[in-house]
Amino acid sequence: MRITVAGTGYVGLVAGVCFAEAGHNVICVDVDEAKVKLMESGVSPIYEEGLQELMQKNNAAGRLHYTTDYRSAYKDADAIFIGVGTPELPDGSANLDYIAIVSRQIAESVEKDCLVVVKSTVPVGTNDKVEQFIHDFLKKDVKIEVASNPEFLAQGSAVHDTMHAARIIIGTESEHAEKVLKEIYEPFGLPIVSVNRRSAEMIKYACNDFLALKISYMNDIANLCELVGADIQDVAKGMSYDTRIGANFLNAGIGYGGSCFPKDTKALKFLAKQYGYQLRTVEAAVDVNASQKTRLFKKASERMITFRGLKIAVLGLAFKPKTDDLREAPSLDNIELLLEQGADLVAYDPVAADNFKRRFPEGACKNGSITYVKEPKKALKEADLCFIFTEWNEIREISPREYKEHMRIPLVYDGRNIYDVREMKDAGVEYYSIGR
Ligand code: UDX
Repeated sequence: MRITVAGTGYVGLVAGVCFAEAGHNVICVDVDEAKVKLMESGVSPIYEEGLQELMQKNNAAGRLHYTTDYRSAYKDADAIFIGVGTPELPDGSANLDYIAIVSRQIAESVEKDCLVVVKSTVPVGTNDKVEQFIHDFLKKDVKIEVASNPEFLAQGSAVHDTMHAARIIIGTESEHAEKVLKEIYEPFGLPIVSVNRRSAEMIKYACNDFLALKISYMNDIANLCELVGADIQDVAKGMSYDTRIGANFLNAGIGYGGSCFPKDTKALKFLAKQYGYQLRTVEAAVDVNASQKTRLFKKASERMITFRGLKIAVLGLAFKPKTDDLREAPSLDNIELLLEQGADLVAYDPVAADNFKRRFPEGACKNGSITYVKEPKKALKEADLCFIFTEWNEIREISPREYKEHMRIPLVYDGRNIYDVREMKDAGVEYYSIGR
């Protein structure tokens, strides 16, 4: 099949590359000329395990192309997947401007019957509007249908999540659209759940918000564990054996970040409000997450008379390991606060440091300063305090003894519970974590 993918962010690029890997002929469209050149040369614009290798393989096989010329890419495609961003607006609703721009370009370019598939996460009812919008602006006498096909990939394991997805959700309003989508996904050999468009749109939000809720619930229970003297990791272990609960997403910490959970919880809350309904469970998840992000900072503030002039090691900046993405990362909130309070930060992250530097350039910043190091132990050297914000393996590998050895004051605030409390204590480290 001839597939065009609009947008080469996490959703679009990974989908395009995986469709090519499955044997389809794919064109990826993006407005950014420099990005297109980069991708043509086989370089991935995002850090994602296995992606660049698959790009190079499929570029070489002639199944994968990139262009800024959307007209030629949309003109005779069998299916066009929309994978552009739907960022959060100040009121929490999803910004559909990019979806609208692409829809209009499609309407003005297509010259044969085509299925338009919305992969971006969009509020329930958007697919109907996209279909109407395309019909309103359609130039040629062709049949265009719109289908929903939400994406469930997680950053850091995007290629694997796509090639081996637990299920493919397709939301269609006609047998023809269902047939085309089933044909596209046939080579993947994955379970397909076929529903109507609005249900497909809702499945995506219901999944993300449920997982966000699960994390906030565990963080809430963790905070209570601290008060009553229980250990959240033992509690989670005990819970995980109940197959109705499951073993995943039970890790308490300094809250969820990333491009999806924060945005999609707010978007669903907004959608419910539009319909006159208050989604109290999701609202609670958002509230717990907002306060959880700075819980360690608050704990450290209770312990320290000041952060001014203190050398603080910051281990981990990305919102989770295996990604260079900083969107809604808890590190951002904490570093803002620490710099405002005059701390001198020495930060380490194996892949997200360059992105972080763009927001917080090296040197004096606010009332403190920030420098970046390439090895975690360099950050610890002579540090008065250490914050752990991301559970990278490179950070896990630091032994408790090394904190004691390298730091001036072995005082560690771990937002990801990566160490055993007793082992840290035995090594002579003053150690604070979440829910233990
Ligand atoms: C998520 C969903 O998993 C994916 O299905 C959806 O398509 C997009 O959103 P992603 O944001 O890439 O993916 O990462 P994920 O691994 O789900 O983690 C999200 C956040 O939750 C991270 O900040 C992570 O640290 C946090 N988290 C996750 C916890 O705090 N505890 C957990 O147990 C799991």
